[in-house]
Amino acid sequence: MNGRIQAPGEPDTSRAWFARAQASLAGGISSSSRLTSAGPRSYPLYMASGSGARIRDVDGNEYVDYLISYGSAILGHAHPQLTEALTAVLRTGTMFGTCNTVEVELAELIREMVPCADLIRFANSGSEAVQGAVRAARGFTGHSKILKFEGHYHGWSDTLAVSNRPDASQAGPYAAPRSVPHSPGIPDGVVGDVVVCPWNDPAALREILDAHRGELAAVICEPIVANNACTMPEPGYLDLLREECSARGIMLIFDEVCTGFRTGPGGAQTLFGVVPDLAVFSKALGGGLPIAAFAGQRHVMEPLAQGHVKHGGTYNASPLCATSALVTLRSLNQPDVTKRIDESGRRLMETIRRAAHDRRIPCAVQGVGAMFQAVFTADGTPTRQYRDLLGVDRARSDAFRHELLKRGVHVNAYGMACWFVAAAVTDDDLDATCEALGEAFSVL
Ligand SMILES: Cc1ncc(COP(=O)(O)O)c(C=O)c1O
Repeated sequence: MNGRIQAPGEPDTSRAWFARAQASLAGGISSSSRLTSAGPRSYPLYMASGSGARIRDVDGNEYVDYLISYGSAILGHAHPQLTEALTAVLRTGTMFGTCNTVEVELAELIREMVPCADLIRFANSGSEAVQGAVRAARGFTGHSKILKFEGHYHGWSDTLAVSNRPDASQAGPYAAPRSVPHSPGIPDGVVGDVVVCPWNDPAALREILDAHRGELAAVICEPIVANNACTMPEPGYLDLLREECSARGIMLIFDEVCTGFRTGPGGAQTLFGVVPDLAVFSKALGGGLPIAAFAGQRHVMEPLAQGHVKHGGTYNASPLCATSALVTLRSLNQPDVTKRIDESGRRLMETIRRAAHDRRIPCAVQGVGAMFQAVFTADGTPTRQYRDLLGVDRARSDAFRHELLKRGVHVNAYGMACWFVAAAVTDDDLDATCEALGEAFSVL
């Protein structure tokens, strides 16, 4: 290690806070996924501060951060321009529950950046905005079933929390997967409205679409499957989804909560040149504050615009969150900003590829520069769909992450998620990360 990242010390302060949290927070946490940020320890790390691409925990350790709040803090932590703009809003009032001018400017900018965005509605989280898009699709088509792909994640709410990560014993036949609720507490009626399909398999798709002819309101997908280790769509697959949906009168929804404004100003729909009927955004949109949006072509958003299809929310597009989004998108709309993110990520991907090759460790590095993952498949070939992930070497993937954490590199603790790169990452941060990567591979 070159000393630029302080070596982690004894993590007793995080341990003590987690013990204290057990008495007041259910399970000591505020989201089920946070327990997994424990890394090699039996408790999660408590972060105290961040600036740029670095964060510091309460134990006094510093990390280069590739979680960046699940991709949200895309400009970096405590970004000076964002801090200044938000401070001004704090002084003039954060929320009125009325229309505000910033939401209009923000919607205009999204229209400029995103091909499918004729009309936009704001929400507060990805889960909520997914619900909005599904409501719009159901309201427009009059059908209730939604086809989702096995392993794709669309939020924690009942609507689509189905077959997120089924184990092999539950998942059912490959070409006709069972709809497996992600949690107890999701009603059978809701699960029954979700049809599950394997990803990247045209024949299976057509068969399932045929079996549900006349029933489907929408097909929804993560165009790059961030929650399946950045599994990429095979060439032509998104075009096929577009063609099949158009031919059958089904709304195509891209869940761009992870890809939106990150893989380039126009998100995955621009990257792949496929325009969905509806798309969902959050994470990078807010630059670290809670805001989300669903946006769609005029035909499918019109019933909402007319007030036939309902959507609400006390906090939607508050001046505080809308300002955060406006400052963030103005920055991400500059091609050099997303280019820098992409190039930084590609340098890390290449470093991982070389280290794996040199050590003869089978490893697929998949995704794009702005979001990617290293997956230890048996022969190093990239994953095509969720069931491929059931066979990866999880122990090695955990060991990889633990070795990185020891060396001051913080990544998503769930190995089937991905690395997110911040615009603020410096050459020093990248040098330090590449050195940590080399060292981690040498002990795997
Ligand atoms: C692709 C995708 N869709 C939806 C969501 C849900 O977003 P939120 O956690 O803001 O509700 C997530 C969250 O990780 C996501 O990755």
